[in-house]
Amino acid sequence: MSDRKVYTDYFFDEPAFNTHDGGYIPLEAPKTPQEKLRIPALLEPDKETDSDMYYTVVAQTGETQLLPGDKTKTWGYNNSILGKTIVFKDGKNIHITLKNNLPEVTTFHWHGLNVPGPITDGGCHAPVYPGQSTQIDFKCHQRAATLWLHAHPCPATAQQVWKGLATTVIVQDKTEKQLPFPRNYGVDDLPLVLQDRRFHEHNQLDYMADYDPDGIQGPTPMINGTINPYFDVTTQRIRLRILDGANRREWRLHFSDDLKFTQVASDGGVLPEPVDFTHLMLTCAERAEIIVDFGAYKPGDEVTLYSDDVPLVRFRIHQFTKDETQLPDHLVDIPDPEVTPDTKVHQVVMAGMDEMVEINGKKFDMQRIDDKQKIGNVEYWDISNTNDKTSGMIHPYHMHATQFKIVSRNGHAPYPNEHGLKDTVGVNPGETVRLKVWFDKLGVFMNHCHILEHEDGGMMAQFEVYDPDHPKTYKLMDMDTLMTAFAKERGVKKADLNIPGMHMTN
Ligand code: C2O
Ligand code: CU
Ligand code: CU
Repeated sequence: MSDRKVYTDYFFDEPAFNTHDGGYIPLEAPKTPQEKLRIPALLEPDKETDSDMYYTVVAQTGETQLLPGDKTKTWGYNNSILGKTIVFKDGKNIHITLKNNLPEVTTFHWHGLNVPGPITDGGCHAPVYPGQSTQIDFKCHQRAATLWLHAHPCPATAQQVWKGLATTVIVQDKTEKQLPFPRNYGVDDLPLVLQDRRFHEHNQLDYMADYDPDGIQGPTPMINGTINPYFDVTTQRIRLRILDGANRREWRLHFSDDLKFTQVASDGGVLPEPVDFTHLMLTCAERAEIIVDFGAYKPGDEVTLYSDDVPLVRFRIHQFTKDETQLPDHLVDIPDPEVTPDTKVHQVVMAGMDEMVEINGKKFDMQRIDDKQKIGNVEYWDISNTNDKTSGMIHPYHMHATQFKIVSRNGHAPYPNEHGLKDTVGVNPGETVRLKVWFDKLGVFMNHCHILEHEDGGMMAQFEVYDPDHPKTYKLMDMDTLMTAFAKERGVKKADLNIPGMHMTN
């Protein structure tokens, strides 16, 4: 038996939890019948060879039976809601046709994927207009990890994700394959996308009715696009690839009986050591892969995963074969390169709440590049949250194009599960988180708060990863072009577009 310490707290500053927000909408336990947890199918490659993988990813409209009665109009990738799960293998050349079958412009952003920007990365500079398709090609070169694909057409990211445009992406590599982790997809290895929604008349979503500049919320937990799900457990251990896919909500996860679970991976892949918990908090866009051992239960038992005191998923225990697999105390080595001498410390100051959010005193401007870093350098980035310690909120800070190392939180060690690679970090009010950041792909990329209404509202900046020997210029999108497209596609005047962030950014 392992003698690892078991952590029982959420680490983040309690006064900053979203539960203290004026606009907080508590989750409510759904009253509808329990439904089998949707497990998104794996997206079939169009073709796969020893060296290459070909995919077609289609953004489409659809209808999903979420509640009894009327179906809900939703959007998804190769699916009516969310999407199929996309698998990339480290070392392969990936070719993806991106097809937009939606009635409006979108982009395909690969959150956490190490690809060039701004086009392959898929932020706001890479629009795909309705009825059109485009192709991206890149070499998958990164550690096994749980990443995700989501729409990113600033400042309408939040609306499109709310409609369903988000799906899990799994990177596989040889190192992770050697580890004693469950990996039978859909049986003992499953994505768990945590979201919340409010359903209006005829079971429909209504983004504008629920809009909140600090982040839209709904009282109903929606897990993998399932309301009130259960999962049939047929193995002693299961691995959950949990993603906080909510626009704003934090999840404070724990199981019934305070069942212990083990985190084995964070955003960028496997942790150096497994970390045991009874409680785990995730902020927006963060991922945690956890392994849960149901060895103490017997067929007929039920184990519930909660956030705060609301049930999210019920795990129904069935017959399983005994599995005494123990995780080694050391899993993988994490790179920790030396900082390049004589390089500046980048400063990112996240300030404000509601419409007043900004980074370094500015609102996002698609045409402005706020910072730069030389490709191959390793540099410190200090990320501060100047919100008031007692009334402010946690801003989950995300950077495209990198998996960084968290060096410290206000000079202290990062949390016990933050010793691996990350692309998103929750920053407490009054805190400065120091990151060690390096890039190996050129491009213009975004860094922002991942509360989607904050990023749409301008709490976002851009940086360029450059090579001094090969300077490049980029054609950057502008707000007017995007808003003109949205207005035309939605058949309204630009002034009448219900895209709240357009009035807050440039
Ligand atoms: Cu999930 Cu700009 O990203
Ligand atoms: Cu991203
Ligand atoms: Cu924020």
